[in-house]
Formats: sequence, C-alpha cells, structure tokens
Amino acid sequence: MARRILVTGGAGFIGSHTVDLLVARGDSVRVLDALLPPVHAAATWPSYLSAHVERIHGSVEDPATLRAALHEIDVVVHLAAYQDYLPNFSRFFHVNAGGTALLYELLVAEAALRDRVERVVVATSQAVLGEGRYECPVHGTRFPGQRPLAQLEARDWDPRCDDCGSAMATRPTFADDPPRPHNQYGISKLTQELIALNLGARYGIPTVAMRYSITQGPRQSFTNPYSGALRIFVQRVLHGRQPMVYEDGQQLRDFVTVWDVARANLIAIDDPRSDFKALNVGGGRAITVLDYAQVVSRALACPVTPELPGRFRIGDTRHICSDISTLADLGWRPKHTLEEAASAYAEWAQAQPGFGDYTDSGLKTMTDQGVVRDAR
Ligand SMILES: NC(=O)c1ccc[n+]([C@@H]2O[C@H](COP(=O)([O-])OP(=O)(O)OC[C@H]3O[C@@H](n4cnc5c(N)ncnc54)[C@H](O)[C@@H]3O)[C@@H](O)[C@H]2O)c1
Repeated sequence: MARRILVTGGAGFIGSHTVDLLVARGDSVRVLDALLPPVHAAATWPSYLSAHVERIHGSVEDPATLRAALHEIDVVVHLAAYQDYLPNFSRFFHVNAGGTALLYELLVAEAALRDRVERVVVATSQAVLGEGRYECPVHGTRFPGQRPLAQLEARDWDPRCDDCGSAMATRPTFADDPPRPHNQYGISKLTQELIALNLGARYGIPTVAMRYSITQGPRQSFTNPYSGALRIFVQRVLHGRQPMVYEDGQQLRDFVTVWDVARANLIAIDDPRSDFKALNVGGGRAITVLDYAQVVSRALACPVTPELPGRFRIGDTRHICSDISTLADLGWRPKHTLEEAASAYAEWAQAQPGFGDYTDSGLKTMTDQGVVRDAR
C-alpha cells in the first residue's frame, strides 16, 4: 500500500535518489529541506528533484516547520545533516543531534503524529566507527582511538596498538563493534544514533540507523568543496589539474554507490527486521584512495596521477571497511560498480550550470582553520 513518506534533506544527494525510488513505486513523498549552501549554492530547489513531491523549505531545527512536515506522515526518512570538516563544532550537534531530538520530541508529544508514524529511518554514518576493528599481533582485536598529531606530523600514518605500539592489520568492522568516533561529525552522528535508537525503543517508535560508508554518484554537490574523493578527483581532472591526496594515498575505504544506498533505505523503510538496529551500508570491498583514483581515471578515460605532498586532515580515519552481513541477510547487496558511479557523476556534473573546480577554496579554508596540515 502506498504510504506518505517524509524525507528530510530530500533535496540532497542521497535524499533525492531515495525520493526517486519511492516516487517510482507509488509512495507519496514530502521533502523538507533548508536548501543550504555550500551544497545548494543558489539556495533553490535543485532541478534533479522529482517533480512529484511536496516541498517544504525549512529547517529540521525549527519546531513549527518540522511539526507541519510530520502532518499525516507514515514513515520518516531523516537525512538532513550538517557535514564536513570545519571546526564549527557546535553546529554539528545543533543540526544532527538537536534536529533528531526534536523529531522524537514532537512524535512523543503529539499522539496524532506518533500514532500514525510506522517507522523512522535515520542516516548516521560509518564515521561513528572511527578507526574500527584492527588485529594486533600481540593483543588480538583492538579498536584504536585517533592517531596522535605528532604521529601524523612524522608521516607515520597507520594506527598502532594502544598497549604495545605494534603495527596492526585492519579488519572489517561490525555494526555492533564499539563505536569510537573521533571527529565532530562522527561524534554528532553517534549522538544522533543514540537519541534515535534509544528514544525509539523507549516510546515504541520503530527506528533504524543507517551507517552509510562514503557514498559516490551523481548529484553530489560540487560546490561543497571540503570532502568527497570522487567530486575532488573529477573537478580537478576535468579542469586539467591533478588531485591532491592526503597522507600517502594508501588509506582504505569501502566506497558505496548512491543507487545501492537508496535501495538499502527502502529495505529499512519496509522491513521490520531492521527495527531498532544500526545497519552498515558499505561497498563490501576496501580499496586504497590511490586505487580509487585509477577507477576514476578509467571512468573519465583520462590519466589521474595524484599529488602526494604529505598533507593530512585532522580527524581523518586511516582505514575503514564496514561489515555488511546484516543488511545482506535482509536481501541487500551492492549491485553497482564504482566505475559506473564515477562515469555517471562526471557526466552529470559537466552538464550542470556552474560546474567548475571549487577544490582550491575548500583547501584554503581548511588550511586557514588548521584542519589541513603539512607533515614534516
Ligand atoms: N554522502 C555520504 O558519503 C554520506 C556518508 C555517511 C552518511 N551520510 C549521511 O547521509 C545523509 C545525507 O547525506 P548527503 O550526502 O545526501 O548530503 P547532502 O548534503 O547532499 O544532503 C543533505 C541535505 O540536507 C539539507 N539540510 C542540511 N541541514 C538542514 C536542516 N537543518 N534542515 C533541513 N535540511 C537541511 C541540505 O540542504 C541538503 O539538501 C546525511 O545525514 C549524512 O550525514 C552521507
């Protein structure tokens, strides 16, 4: 039966693809989005957003707006968030934790809203896992904390055992492994997840937390210049420049395509076996950032030779690969390749008015604010 679904942040990258799947199968969709820069440089509704949705322009932090958006809604998909690497720490918590707490506050306070809502799907992030699971040859399974600044300045990139200092091997990280986020974004996303899963359980509101790995594909805003390997590689290469890669480029990531993430969201919306769980949504295979540059190179049919000046970003994770077996048990597997996502992103970006190379401004802002630093 078609349901009424509210997608907060539905004008964004993952949200708009999720909206497309919902509309295609006949659900009635309402989008609440603040249309914020730098993602939406013009603060207008993006042309890629389905014409078949009801639109509310406003913030998830505003009680009156969120209450209106929740009117007669069956399922909430809560994707609106503040992201990236800038040190305006409080903003991460105001939007990501505050907006989520307000959502539950309204559902608990107003019986008419709560009685109708069947499920809330909340986007958290792989960033809650921090460095994730490692194997120390002496101490076995470890979940290391953040790498000390002095270690990074000395170009000693890999996490070491907290107890004996040994080099360790990275392992896939399970959703119920201990979360150890170490940047403001990851900490705010863990806070959001704790709010949603705990208040959902306490008040009987079925809730699912989706921990997406780094997601790639078309509609990822190219005016947001602070992160995103694909958008940075594509912007640089298509403007005749080479991308700069942090650390030594050997960081492992399990990139996932946006189409697969949108399909995973549908499972969370539909399948009660996901209730009250945190689900990892990753590509299932880790590759180095340098190997990923070659994926982009093949997709663009252009040589990509990243520059490696020995810069690093404070708060970055060295290696992370999420175990995706729980979602696989619910029938989901990544279907699309990273090559497909890279080609589709490049094709989409080049067709957009205003497509340019925004990477210098992002790098300058992060360097000025002490986020990006040079190793010795
Ligand atoms: N893209 C990734 O790699 C990735 C990885 C892990 C988790 N996530 C999470 O997935 C969700 C969607 O990410 P995305 O990549 O689509 O981001 P995006 O920036 O493309 O979209 C987010 C949308 O939320 C809107 N928004 C921001 N603050 C808002 C507010 N206060 N009120 C209403 N709308 C607001 C923005 O205008 C934007 O349209 C986020 O919660 C993000 O933290 C994304």
